[in-house]
Amino acid sequence: MLVSISSHALADGDPKAGEALFTKTCGGCHKIGRYAQAAFAPQLNGIFGRVAGTTRDYVYSSAMKASGITWQRDTLMAFIKDPSDVVPGTNMHFWGISDAQKLDDLLAWLQANQNAE
Ligand code: HEC
Repeated sequence: MLVSISSHALADGDPKAGEALFTKTCGGCHKIGRYAQAAFAPQLNGIFGRVAGTTRDYVYSSAMKASGITWQRDTLMAFIKDPSDVVPGTNMHFWGISDAQKLDDLLAWLQANQNAE
């Protein structure tokens, strides 16, 4: 599994722990990594700097498309903590993660896949 440490590393979390957490809590809906495609939910490659609702192989809620969010560390943290608080009307029905360490680990794993295609 590719784990690239880029010069603009954003998270201090542990990507290995983040991978396990992703598989368990996000992986039922989302795919990430090489060749990831939309499944029940959009793929999450290159998520940092991506504008919400813009992958081409997924049909988003109008709430997500209209949100105007650019995914960055702070917006991702807030969304994963409480999706419908950040994007009211989103189709992501997820109870949220509020543990700071888990969020850091998860973001480290998303970051490790920033350049995956
Ligand atoms: C029950 C299924 C489900 C789970 C579990 C889930 N998501 Fe989602 N997620 C979705 C759906 C569906 C969407 C699209 C929402 C919309 O269009 O309103 C989405 C959208 C997103 C987006 C916006 C993507 C984009 O292209 O704009 C991000 C980021 C995201 N999810 C991250 C996560 C992370 C990280 C986890 C695990 C902590 C997670 N999700 C868990 C279903 C899920």
